[in-house]
Amino acid sequence: MTVLSPVSDPRAAEPAPTESLIGLRVNGADHELAVDHRTSLLDALRDGLALTGTKKGCDHGQCGACTVLLDGDRINSCLQLAVAVGDREVTTIEGLAGDDALHPVQQAFLDHDGYQCGYCTPGQICSAVGALAEADRGWPSHVTPPDDPGPASAAALSADEIRERMSGNLCRCGAYVNIVAAVQQAAAGRVTGDDLA
Ligand code: FES
Ligand code: FES
Repeated sequence: MTVLSPVSDPRAAEPAPTESLIGLRVNGADHELAVDHRTSLLDALRDGLALTGTKKGCDHGQCGACTVLLDGDRINSCLQLAVAVGDREVTTIEGLAGDDALHPVQQAFLDHDGYQCGYCTPGQICSAVGALAEADRGWPSHVTPPDDPGPASAAALSADEIRERMSGNLCRCGAYVNIVAAVQQAAAGRVTGDDLA
């Protein structure tokens, strides 16, 4: 019988690195975190930084519960790899309020009883902040008429536009009723696109 000597495989001797030390800037503070390369931004925020305000609903980009702002733009953090965030500014629900006052969108949700359950509310509010900034940039939505260049500002949004722009945030119990009024109040209070983003 011939005994074969083990084949030496350089890849076996030196396993490919699956973890990196990354920097994350979240709510104005810098953090260093060792993450598996497959870690989503959502998991890095919740498990790595204990910022549990951002919720994991579907974990598949379908419910909006995990919405945060990345350089002011809303994203589903369950679809964003933490290692790909780099130096960009992440804002979570914990970072929206000032020291002494709620963010105007938070205040509007409170004024209009637009708060939903703890799973849906953080994503809804971050999404509304992002949607108002998008409208201030004149971005059209799916319901903006094709010959319309888009809203002049968030303050010009109709109820239909708000519904459409918030449609990526789902809840399972249908408690949407007062959100349009809350977003309208926050939109009416805007002076420039930089005020709330
Ligand atoms: S948890 Fe990210 S979209 Fe549902
Ligand atoms: S408000 Fe959260 S599931 Fe309906």
